[in-house]
Amino acid sequence: MSIEPFNLLGTPKATKKTLTKVEQIENEEELKLEPTLRPSSLEDYIGQERLKQILRIGIEAALKRGDKASLGHILLYGPPGLGKTSCACLLAGLLGSRAHIFSAPSLDKPKDIVGVLMSLQEGDILFIDEIHRLNRITEELLYPAIEDFCLDLSSGKGVSARVTRLPLPKFILVGATTKLGNISAPLRDRFMQIHRMEFYVESELAQIVLRTSKLLNFEISPKGTLEIARRSRGTPRIANRLCRLIRDFISHKNAQIADEELIKEALDLFQIDHLGLDPIDRSLLKTIAENYAGGPVGLETLAASLGEDTRTIEDYYEPFLIQMGLLERTPKGRKITLRASEYLIPKQITEAQHEPK
Ligand SMILES: Nc1ncnc2c1ncn2[C@@H]1O[C@H](COP(=O)(O)OP(=O)(O)O)[C@@H](O)[C@H]1O
Ligand SMILES: [Mg+2]
Repeated sequence: MSIEPFNLLGTPKATKKTLTKVEQIENEEELKLEPTLRPSSLEDYIGQERLKQILRIGIEAALKRGDKASLGHILLYGPPGLGKTSCACLLAGLLGSRAHIFSAPSLDKPKDIVGVLMSLQEGDILFIDEIHRLNRITEELLYPAIEDFCLDLSSGKGVSARVTRLPLPKFILVGATTKLGNISAPLRDRFMQIHRMEFYVESELAQIVLRTSKLLNFEISPKGTLEIARRSRGTPRIANRLCRLIRDFISHKNAQIADEELIKEALDLFQIDHLGLDPIDRSLLKTIAENYAGGPVGLETLAASLGEDTRTIEDYYEPFLIQMGLLERTPKGRKITLRASEYLIPKQITEAQHEPK
């Protein structure tokens, strides 16, 4: 029997064609646990200060005007787990509106988006995740809906073809994407605000870890809090996931409190290192270093060497490795940096030292 090494995304390989491994796990979490951990007030929504400030001003003005939709459509982009869905839910809460949450692949047929648009009420939030994956027909139905708040329905064919225009209530579209570059220009231009979600700094993640530990009912020491924050790849979703692992570990050890020592022991067991990198991150860097002389290597080739799909690598692994200065995207492909070589060397020495004589 072989046991796959632990990684932050969980171990199962993608089985459904349309979903990557990351998306499957996110879907599961979305349904089961995240509703309880999702921040419900601006105070609980840690970090992203600039975004919060802009939204606060916009919401205040829209409510004063008595026209919620005048806030305008908002596009949020950035790697998974940084709080895009949470931001849309929070926005609905602050406006006192309903949030309708969809993922672009679930709006595949024209009747899907028509049904959704027809169900909206004045001031509602329509959240479309992965909006870069909308198909062309759905996207074209969306243009008049977001621009003029109306729905153009065509009927008949050839000379008898006609378009009926139906008015829609004024709503707010919040789009989220991991890939701003993949959104068509006409769609992008229809958003009033476009915000980039930033990775979180250690002190922000520490606040999130503390809040999550309380919600999950376990005690954690201040140094332990920082240790989890440091290894969370700048990402709240991962901080939460690590908290859940730690909670199980405490119970396994019959410990009273998650202190630094216990957390280090647990995260070492799960092979999450001091930078927050998991076995797949390390194998990605190592593959480029050893099989492709440090790069550049094309994404497809790299994905095939690692046995991962390109979307998981591009959306999930690369942004953090780039942010950490370990990886570079160049026109010719992916390259590791000097920092990555330095990071890999002590590992190789350690591994060599541990090899049986
Ligand atoms: N700013 C934040 N403050 C506190 N917790 C957050 C924040 N952003 C995200 N989270 C936590 O991380 C989880 C994942 O965030 P989510 O909004 O689903 O990310 P995204 O939609 O960008 O993938 C949320 O359920 C929430 O518990
Ligand atoms: Mg999301």
